[in-house]
Amino acid sequence: MDKLKIRGGRRLVGEVRISGAKNAALPILAASLLTAGDLVLHNVPELADVRTMLRLLEGMGVRVERSGSDVTLNASNVTSTVAPYELVKTMRASILTLCPLAARFGSATVSLPGGCAIGARPVDQHIKGLRKLGAEVEVEHGYVQARAGRLKGARIVTDMVTVTGTENLLMAAVLAEGRTVIENAAREPEVVDLARCLNAMGAKITGIGTPTLVVDGVESLQGAEYSVVPDRIEAGSFLCAAAATRGDVLVTHCVPSDMEAMLAKLREMGAELEIGADWIRLRQKDRPKPVQIRTAPHPAFPTDMQAQFMAVCTLAVGTSLITETIFENRFMHVPELQRLGARIDIDGHTAAVRGVERLTGADVMATDLRASASLVIAALAAQGESTVDRLYHLDRGYERMAEKLRGLGADLERVHD
Ligand code: UD1
Repeated sequence: MDKLKIRGGRRLVGEVRISGAKNAALPILAASLLTAGDLVLHNVPELADVRTMLRLLEGMGVRVERSGSDVTLNASNVTSTVAPYELVKTMRASILTLCPLAARFGSATVSLPGGCAIGARPVDQHIKGLRKLGAEVEVEHGYVQARAGRLKGARIVTDMVTVTGTENLLMAAVLAEGRTVIENAAREPEVVDLARCLNAMGAKITGIGTPTLVVDGVESLQGAEYSVVPDRIEAGSFLCAAAATRGDVLVTHCVPSDMEAMLAKLREMGAELEIGADWIRLRQKDRPKPVQIRTAPHPAFPTDMQAQFMAVCTLAVGTSLITETIFENRFMHVPELQRLGARIDIDGHTAAVRGVERLTGADVMATDLRASASLVIAALAAQGESTVDRLYHLDRGYERMAEKLRGLGADLERVHD
């Protein structure tokens, strides 16, 4: 198992290029199942989760050609509509194959993802919505089994805003007969990116980026060429690393307009920001100021940035309050941050973070993807040496993070056990 050894206390300075968004790439890769034509993708990040999705699709008979961040997929010869437990258990986003398979082949057998470290995370909304579109869906032997003729457009109102739920139902609706309206749709930039890619494939989706998606179903989709949107969470994580180390970092190839809630908080924390069309420069001169953060669906503050901002707050001059409203168990980084000297009290869904002048290096353990980034950020700011264990969490969602940090002057290395 790989670990990251970090000698902290250095300001991060320089320029870093952001990769394509994991959470946009995964549904877009799954969308290849919707057409017999070639889906040619660019800016696909090289990540463990992307490799898992490609393996899953290859197992179904999808032809995959990959060269760096370019991936071409062809699903003209799908031989299986099963997503097996062995792959799904390593990546919940495998559920994104459910609706494309049901819509194009009338059959899908996808292992139920089950819970994960950050919470129960059911997929009931995906199933309810697919049933509304006319599919028969059963959960048996740990698998979601869907059978359908051509799906039929319907009005779907989800009980809560769900990102992959909206994406899955969008991929069902594009091939359904007639009009589907998805109310209470997620507005995350990754949902927008999937919708744009589907339209490039010939789908008819309007209301993109609003809570009401209107889909006029078509009989078939064609191949297309599409470039995945940059990863706002990766960009935000580098900005947090810059803020925590009182650095001066230029983040390039990003979409600042997708990051407004985060940028507002960084400004409140005293960061100086310069923002261009696709770049952000952050300079943090003094200790950060404390802030109040409440996670909520886009365009509010993203739950996927909560842990990284908490790492910055551990060094603030005063007490920050961070409330998590999306996932019930997303404070697992707290005991690990405490090992680095952070002072944090949890009361229900809120963490009170009393800033300290300095963190001190320690051995810590990553518990999930974003928690791992938060520990790396805290360790970069801490005095002395830290080891972040269970690096595979970080590898799921950050492309070459250690290398990129080294490019900003961080003193760190990967070590194999
Ligand atoms: C996606 C992101 C994840 C991010 C999350 C919230 C991907 C691959 N993952 O996860 O990084 O943290 O959005 O922005 O894009 N829920 C139900 N029933 C459902 C669906 C969801 O109860 O059928 C609940 C969940 O348990 C959670 C909330 O709704 O409490 C939001 O979850 P959701 O938006 O679906 O998260 P994911 O799509 O799994």
